[in-house]
Formats: sequence, structure tokens, C-alpha cells
Amino acid sequence: MSTQHTAPTAPTAQATAAATRIQQHRSYLMCRPEHFVVSYTINPWMEPAKPTDTAKALAQWQVLHDTYVALGHDVHLIDPIPGLPDMVYTANGGFVIDGLAYGAKFRFAERAPEGPAFMEWFRDNGFEVAEPVEVNEGEGDFLLVGDTILAGTGFRSTGDSHRELGEVFGKEVVSLTLTDPRFYHLDTAISVLDPVEGPGGVERANIAYLPAAFDARSRGILAERFPDAILVADSDGAVFGLNSASDGLNVLISPRATGFEAQLRERGYHPVLVDLSELLLGGGGIKCCTLELRRGQEENR
Ligand code: ARG
Repeated sequence: MSTQHTAPTAPTAQATAAATRIQQHRSYLMCRPEHFVVSYTINPWMEPAKPTDTAKALAQWQVLHDTYVALGHDVHLIDPIPGLPDMVYTANGGFVIDGLAYGAKFRFAERAPEGPAFMEWFRDNGFEVAEPVEVNEGEGDFLLVGDTILAGTGFRSTGDSHRELGEVFGKEVVSLTLTDPRFYHLDTAISVLDPVEGPGGVERANIAYLPAAFDARSRGILAERFPDAILVADSDGAVFGLNSASDGLNVLISPRATGFEAQLRERGYHPVLVDLSELLLGGGGIKCCTLELRRGQEENR
């Protein structure tokens, strides 16, 4: 363990504006919020008494979809199922690496039927499926950074699912504990900026994160492993700024995360602002509506 637990005050030379960012091709799974409504509460953002506007949710979601397409990414769609309003948050539908999908097993009964629905989609679309025994909410809590999986626990996915995840993929899994109920999935507190390996191994694998969302042990791990990470301010975290999607160059973020936007620019990334305010009423943002489909090596172009 390194003794350095304080955040670096200045980025290293490698992390400064001079860095050339390279866009990587992505393949995503999304779900139109046709049945979007907030009818139950399973996170602090959800207030069923507050009216929701499904047409607005659809319009905002469409902008996200069209932005991915315009950037050259592939977007696949799963059919929305009536009565499953949270299905729009496809990040929770599983976790996919090299054509193998580890299925989700949801914490709450309200979302439980989504697990089998996503697994059926994976099978129908040529993915191998590892059925889960343990409770886990997919890419909402599991993030691939280089060749390591960061795995969140505390609110949704269990510690046992982290072990199962490691067995399924044969990769290193680093468990991190979330402590603030507003940031109940790992993808609300960490943004993976450069997740893919290059020909010479992991060429760039940096993250941004919200230190206040984690316990002290997890903060220590993050500081040691990612000394060049972007540390995001509480005010940007509170507007779901970290719930973002990066292709290595373009980083889709909430327009309200203005501090994070500036930090990304300083590091040579290209922030793309996409407003999902209506979907935030369900406690989700850009990343929640996006599941990465990693089919195999050739997909990582
Ligand atoms: N209402 C959903 C839930 O509480 C929101 C899911 C957000 N997804 C995410 N990947 N953070 O389960």
C-alpha cells in the first residue's frame, strides 16, 4: 500500500491538456422510456408524488441516442416492457465483456423481472449468458477500467456478487463501498474516461470520481490506483455529473456539471452536454441509460 492518501494538487505532465485523446468505437444497449413514470421509491431521487412527463423523458432520451449515433457509435435497442418503468436504465441490465454477459439480479422486487428480460435479449443477440446467483445490478455497479473491474457495494450489488463477477470473467475485481444513499450505484460516483486496452496493454485508463460518495478504505484505494484521477466537486456530483459516458475523447455529461466540464476540457477531453433532467426524477442519468456491449477484441476498434 502506498502511503500517499492525499489527492495530488496538480495533474502530472501526462494528464495535462497536451494529452491527445483518441476516440474509440462503442456499442451500446438502450431502451426507449415509453413507460417511464415514477410510481415507487427505491432511491432518494424518486418521489412518486412529483408528476413526470413521459413525452419529455422520451425527447431527452432521443437526444442521447442520436448523440451516440452522430458520434459514430452503434446503438442497439431492447423493447420496453409495460409495468417496468426503470427499464430505461439499461446499465443495470447486466455486465458484458468479450461477448459474455453476466446477468443482473435486482435488489428490489419492482425491477426483478428486468433481469430475465435482459438475459433473453443477450441470448437472442449472440451473447453467452452467465446466470447470476448473487444480487447485482450490472454495469450500474461494475465498471471496467483497463483490465480491472471496479465493483460497488453498499446499496444494491452485494459483496458476494463481486466474487461471482471475478469467477465469471477471470479478472481482478476491486470492491468499493458507497456510503451516500444519493449515490447508490457505482456509476453515479465514478466515471470511466478511458476504459479500453490498446495494442501495448492498458494505454490509458483514467477515471473521475466523487470522493465524498465512498468510505475511507475505498477512497484510499482510489487515490492509490488512480493518482491522476479527476476529483469531482460535491456540487457536480449532486447533479449526477459523474453519471456520464466516455468514448476516450467525447464525454457525455449533464449540462449542470459545469465544474466537471471545465476539468474535462483541461485534460483534453471533449465534453458533450446532454440534459436528462426528466430521467433524473427516477434517479438516473446518461450512464444509467447506457449499457456497453463489448463483443470481443475486434469491437475495441
Ligand atoms: N430508478 C432506478 C433504480 O433506482 C434508477 C437506476 C439508475 N441506474 C444506474 N445505473 N445508476 O434502480
